[in-house]
Amino acid sequence: MRYLILGASAGLGRCLAEQLAARGDGLILVASDQQDLDALSCDLRLRYSVDVEYMAIDLRNFDPETLKQWIIEGPGLPTGILFVAGLGNANDTGVLEQATVDNLITVNFAAGIKLLTAFMPEMLSGQVSTVAGIGSVAAIRGRRANMVYGAAKRGLEFYFESLRHRLADTNCTIRFYRVGFMRTTMLTQSNPLLPAVSADWVAARIIANLKRSGGVTYLPSWWRLVALILRLVPWFVFRRLNI
Ligand SMILES: NC(=O)c1ccc[n+]([C@@H]2O[C@H](COP(=O)([O-])OP(=O)(O)OC[C@H]3O[C@@H](n4cnc5c(N)ncnc54)[C@H](OP(=O)(O)O)[C@@H]3O)[C@@H](O)[C@H]2O)c1
Repeated sequence: MRYLILGASAGLGRCLAEQLAARGDGLILVASDQQDLDALSCDLRLRYSVDVEYMAIDLRNFDPETLKQWIIEGPGLPTGILFVAGLGNANDTGVLEQATVDNLITVNFAAGIKLLTAFMPEMLSGQVSTVAGIGSVAAIRGRRANMVYGAAKRGLEFYFESLRHRLADTNCTIRFYRVGFMRTTMLTQSNPLLPAVSADWVAARIIANLKRSGGVTYLPSWWRLVALILRLVPWFVFRRLNI
């Protein structure tokens, strides 16, 4: 098996890369920082004797067809695609520079759709046989924090819902995750009210599900109950919550 991981250099993407390499899978790693990717690739090749290729790409401005062509001519088509990349902003409360809004929308939403559209023929034929997308509990209900980030993640979730429907009669499995607080660099931008889990723990759950299609999956699963409660809180109470 060979997996293409977008956002592979840090946090959850890095844990996925390590765990997949440990079980002998080949990897194609994508992130924007070339040095991080180079160091990670060397380390994984050395430790696990697996094929690891990488391409440094800024998802804010990339051509998915160029990436796909490089993959076909180089490492070869992946059996699975994991769209993990994400970008948060501590000041995402309404007043933002337009460039920041663009970045949040592009990395968290548009880049995933562009990439997966490029690989749609291979998903339809089953050559790419599993796709996973990473969303966030920030998309449960709109609120004054993470306004653009949450909206972008909700948009990506909608696309994955469509993808699952489109590919229902094929050999390609689709799953989307609403991930709760995870102890990574991204979390340093916020102050979680509920317990955070390790990225290693989340990665292990995603890998265990790789061949199983499914709807939106909460990690950890108790977030489903939190989400239900948050959705049920009446507006006159919700508007007063400082969350
Ligand atoms: N941490 C949390 O509490 C939390 C909670 C819910 C959901 N999530 C979601 O979980 C996923 C993983 O998050 P994480 O906490 O592991 O984040 P992280 O540690 O900040 O890692 C983000 C990854 O995305 C890549 N990335 C960001 N912008 C990029 C760009 N413009 N071009 C290419 N790559 C880019 C980064 O690579 P470079 O640095 O090389 O660009 C890095 O590999 C994200 O989708 C995030 O939204 C996280």
